[in-house]
Amino acid sequence: MPKAPLPIKEFDELTLLIRSRHSLIALEADDPERVAVLIEYVCGCFGLPLFEWSPASGLRRKGGPGAVYNTQTLLGALGHVDASNVPALYHFNLAGERLEDPRVVAKLLELRPEMAQQGEAILLSAVGALPDELSRAFAVVSLSPPTREEYYQYLREILNDVRKRHKVALHLSREEVHQLLSQLQGLTLMEVRRLLTASLVEHNALDARAIASVAEAKGKSVAQSSVLEYFPVRSGFEGLAGMARLKAWLARRAPVFRDPQRAAEFGLTPPRGVLLLGVQGCGKSHCAQAVAASWRLPMLRLDAGRLYDKFVGATEQNLRKALETAERLAPVVLWVDEIEKALASGGDGDGGVSQRVLGTFLTWLAERKGNVFVVATANDISRLPAELLRKGRFDEIFFVDLPSAEIRAEILALHLRQRGRDPGALDLHALASLCEGFSGAELGQAVTSALFTAFDAGGQLTQELLAEELLATRPLSVMMAERVQALRDWARDRTVSAD
Ligand SMILES: Nc1ncnc2c1ncn2[C@@H]1O[C@H](COP(=O)(O)OP(=O)(O)OP(=O)(O)O)[C@@H](O)[C@H]1O
Ligand SMILES: [Mg+2]
Repeated sequence: MPKAPLPIKEFDELTLLIRSRHSLIALEADDPERVAVLIEYVCGCFGLPLFEWSPASGLRRKGGPGAVYNTQTLLGALGHVDASNVPALYHFNLAGERLEDPRVVAKLLELRPEMAQQGEAILLSAVGALPDELSRAFAVVSLSPPTREEYYQYLREILNDVRKRHKVALHLSREEVHQLLSQLQGLTLMEVRRLLTASLVEHNALDARAIASVAEAKGKSVAQSSVLEYFPVRSGFEGLAGMARLKAWLARRAPVFRDPQRAAEFGLTPPRGVLLLGVQGCGKSHCAQAVAASWRLPMLRLDAGRLYDKFVGATEQNLRKALETAERLAPVVLWVDEIEKALASGGDGDGGVSQRVLGTFLTWLAERKGNVFVVATANDISRLPAELLRKGRFDEIFFVDLPSAEIRAEILALHLRQRGRDPGALDLHALASLCEGFSGAELGQAVTSALFTAFDAGGQLTQELLAEELLATRPLSVMMAERVQALRDWARDRTVSAD
């Protein structure tokens, strides 16, 4: 077993408490391995044997044979603590609501003075809130999550451990090691061990695939019931034509996310996010996903629909919880698709709920510290709250316009290639000139439709077929010319062009 790094600060705190004769101590931690290693060192430090209790196995001396007779119940185990005259440390795990039993409360309080005198202690872990009488009697040591340094130590331990049994090649650049460490943040050591061991054994290597598997596992740990969902990203920037300026902007910020420590030393704080505003079907959602793919981060999607669930009163809490989850899993990309729907002022009809939700989100955007990169998308400016556009909320607001002729040719080429066709066989520039005002989505659809026609006719996709298809399409931008124009006019002074 790889050895978990010792949480030094908590070790000092705990030993100090025991030295100063505190005999009832609750450990606050969600990481069992950290608790285990901490207690092991504390026992070593005082030269005391360790007895461990859990509801499943009763009280056992660590390293000894089975459970002590009659200690399955918490009360029975405490009876043994009372009767035993071997000084020891006792670790009670998962005692839960058994601590509410008045006999248990009384026993613990009764044991306290004598244990203190002998330098013994009872350590509780994985308990919820303690009943009042106990919460006054227990000192609390709260374990912080592992630091980057500790994750690094543990990573090396795991690597050494696996290498005893398997050949493992190392293929991670310095930058990728940093990326992996960032990804590990928020995971318990047990999760880290499980994930990395699996990846090392499966691939006989520590390489970029480990980063990907951690990213995926993290994403999946987002509770299903939450308003967040893990979004498995498939499309990257390679499938997105145009948006040169936006891509360059993002590319310049990628290294900060990959190596946050060095960036911080350099005086850079991580970027907060972008708002992509623009015409429907022009690749905003695709771009949001490409950010996560190219930065190799998990992507979480904030679902506006689920935000306003039937328990209207809970909506702000839902959002706050979701944002906390995102921070805990950081670094992540948080995608707020169609943000105007999530945050639009719902008029007076909703008792101010949407206003409070907006407030919660804006406060978080402005104050958050974690590595959460927000990509918000919107296409209806009339419903976009003005507060969202103020400086400091997003790093930049980009406008994603309809593609130019040159980009349209590229988009056609991309979609043809995706469907296994050689774009070189067609005159794309001629085709691109036929489809002024088309969105990327409409170009993609035209390619698909032309392929359907070709298949039906038993032939191949030709220049003529595709041209016919394009000419037969009435793009949205033509049908809603005024709205598109209004959007462009509005965006001119307020946003930066993505192209
Ligand atoms: N510039 C582009 N390059 C390649 N494909 C594109 C481009 N723009 C749009 N597409 C394709 O069109 C489809 C729709 O794009 P996407 O969903 O990203 O648009 P959107 O801007 O989010 O639209 P909406 O406002 O309706 O949500 C996707 O399959 C996407 O790949
Ligand atoms: Mg979209």
